[in-house]
Amino acid sequence: MGRDTPMIEIEGLEKTFTTAGGPTAVLKDVSLSIRQGEIFGIIGRSGAGKSTLVRCINLLERPSAGRITVNGQEVSSLQGAALREARRGIGMIFQHFNLLSSRTAFENIAFPLELAGKSKADIVAVVQPLLELVGLTDKRDRYPAELSGGQKQRVGIARALASKPAVLLCDEATSALDPETTKSILALLQDINRKLGLTIVLITHEMPVIKEVCDRVAVLDHGRVVEQGNVFDIFTAPKADVTRSFVSDVIDRPLPSNLLERLRSTPLTQGNVVLRIIFTGPSANTPVIAEVVRTYSVLLNILQGNVEYIQGTPYGNIVVEAVGQPQAVQEAIDHIRANNLRVEVLGHVAGAHRAVA
Ligand SMILES: Nc1ncnc2c1ncn2[C@@H]1O[C@H](COP(=O)(O)OP(=O)(O)O)[C@@H](O)[C@H]1O
Ligand SMILES: [Mg+2]
Repeated sequence: MGRDTPMIEIEGLEKTFTTAGGPTAVLKDVSLSIRQGEIFGIIGRSGAGKSTLVRCINLLERPSAGRITVNGQEVSSLQGAALREARRGIGMIFQHFNLLSSRTAFENIAFPLELAGKSKADIVAVVQPLLELVGLTDKRDRYPAELSGGQKQRVGIARALASKPAVLLCDEATSALDPETTKSILALLQDINRKLGLTIVLITHEMPVIKEVCDRVAVLDHGRVVEQGNVFDIFTAPKADVTRSFVSDVIDRPLPSNLLERLRSTPLTQGNVVLRIIFTGPSANTPVIAEVVRTYSVLLNILQGNVEYIQGTPYGNIVVEAVGQPQAVQEAIDHIRANNLRVEVLGHVAGAHRAVA
């Protein structure tokens, strides 16, 4: 199968729970297509329906309506042995690891194989390389209480891989870990994705997790997919409000307080315009700013600057005060836009040093 082959297809998924207060629609018309071999992120605030969506994909919940296909098989209506078999093809890791405290690392990883009735020799042949893959060879006989959070999650990952799943679902798998450990677990998932070609679905409420490793992302809000696409596109041009706020948590530095205090929403007679200029991809290397200063009677005072790398592509974001006659400033803005850079007018400030045209 190639990279464009769908591994998980969800079409018109609905999930409604019946509660004391009546029916509650938790997932509404969710449609997603997750490709073979990609790392796909699903982000949403708490209560958005992420865990319910995962539980539908791994067949712990039955959809109220809609279809779910995993690895070419329609799974939403499976029963009995076929259901158990399909479940074995879907690995899962959790926020709180869900390890058995009375079993060592080795025994936890071996557990699904024991349940499947594998021989001791077969189990060792699978578990030993998995311990190596997750970097825990020297911890094989340790109990969960003797392991750090990151090590526990490594055991969880190895256990999920023991049944050789085609898909690994991660529900807030790094949310209980500190930022450094989160990075190391994400790096491990990326490594496994590349080495084994495993399709990974990462469910999270944390945008840095998406930015770090995902190829594509869907944004879930109140049970609906409000936006989906390439991570780079979503980061650089978020459309839904909820996405914009997720993105700005990661990308936008708050404006300096002395600027915020001076910023007005309407032009001032003796004032300057404050602009945010966004550079993406290759244009980050274009010397447009220098060109503008050279060509127009406009000075650009840089008030703030920042470059982030998303999937290896630069995303620059600078805030400038444009000093010059309104006509010249407008021409400069038009020139920057003509070079495919995004320009937003943030507001206006009183101009202490207005450039002479
Ligand atoms: N079994 C259930 N019965 C009733 N309501 C549920 C059930 N499971 C989840 N919910 C409700 O569905 C909503 C989404 O929950 P969940 O999928 O856990 O969201 P998330 O993982 O995004 O935080 C919440 O309002 C939750 O209370
Ligand atoms: Mg959840």
